[in-house]
Amino acid sequence: MNTTTNRRNFIKTTAAAGLGLSIIPSGIVFGKDKDTKVRLGFIGVGLRGQSHLELALKRTDVDVVAICDIQQRMIDMSLKLVTESGKPKPQVILEGVQGYKKLLENKDIDAVVIATPWEWHSIMCLDSMNAKKYVGCEVNVGMTVEECWELVHTSERTGMPLMMLENVCYRRDVMAVLNMVRQNVFGELIHLQGGYQHDLREVKFNNGKTDGGIGAEFGEKGFSEAEWRTQHSVYRNGDLYPTAWCWSCCHDGRHQPRQSFYPISFLFIKSPWVT
Ligand SMILES: NC(=O)c1ccc[n+]([C@@H]2O[C@H](COP(=O)([O-])OP(=O)(O)OC[C@H]3O[C@@H](n4cnc5c(N)ncnc54)[C@H](O)[C@@H]3O)[C@@H](O)[C@H]2O)c1
Repeated sequence: MNTTTNRRNFIKTTAAAGLGLSIIPSGIVFGKDKDTKVRLGFIGVGLRGQSHLELALKRTDVDVVAICDIQQRMIDMSLKLVTESGKPKPQVILEGVQGYKKLLENKDIDAVVIATPWEWHSIMCLDSMNAKKYVGCEVNVGMTVEECWELVHTSERTGMPLMMLENVCYRRDVMAVLNMVRQNVFGELIHLQGGYQHDLREVKFNNGKTDGGIGAEFGEKGFSEAEWRTQHSVYRNGDLYPTAWCWSCCHDGRHQPRQSFYPISFLFIKSPWVT
């Protein structure tokens, strides 16, 4: 990494890259003509994976080839979505924590969407790129700096792209602020600061049957993220989920006022208003 990177150029270019990703047509990413379908495999079809699955099932240019999870109830919920969509039933892999490797052996799959607990992301991304799959992986893709570098090096070595599926940076309000920054509304930015400040009680605790904040179970008695995410907060100290605000660092915004707030403070110099 070039440690002498100019911070101002970094802010400008990363902002531009964020916008660019959202406008690249999928046909270019896969290097095929627009009539070619993208064939997807889903690793982890919990609540987030099902949300991705539901979107994929709506598309006419996507085939859902396989789904993989370690819980029967998540597979059942996913298959219900497939049935409702009228699309063909995918290959189902329910073979324990290493079962995803079987999905990666499927040569009919171009790309995988990974939405498993954080501790699985890095190894699943590495295995997927090594299996020559394009990868979209939920945040965070790595839990240590070393893991992140290994992902970079593996992507370079295999030539397979890895996209971290951060979405906050593409929210309408966040994009609006990005647009204002690009139009120099604020003047020159020299300092960006943010933080992830969610009230996550409804995510980290539930009744073990549904999400939505009823109940106080977590760990092996919890459902969805309460089953695994709460443990991270018990045993780790720090900003455990930095990408939402970090990737949005040129933006600020609020949604679901009670639950979510991504505060960004800007310090401007050379702006029209500050002398
Ligand atoms: N970008 C966003 O807005 C957003 C929103 C929600 C969740 N997420 C992220 O999505 C990811 C998944 O979160 P979720 O809410 O779906 O949690 P979840 O617990 O509902 O789903 C995780 C799924 O992974 C499965 N799983 C665990 N180990 C596995 C393995 N070895 N192989 C296959 N499947 C395995 C679990 O059985 C579960 O079904 C997390 O990284 C989370 O931070 C992102």
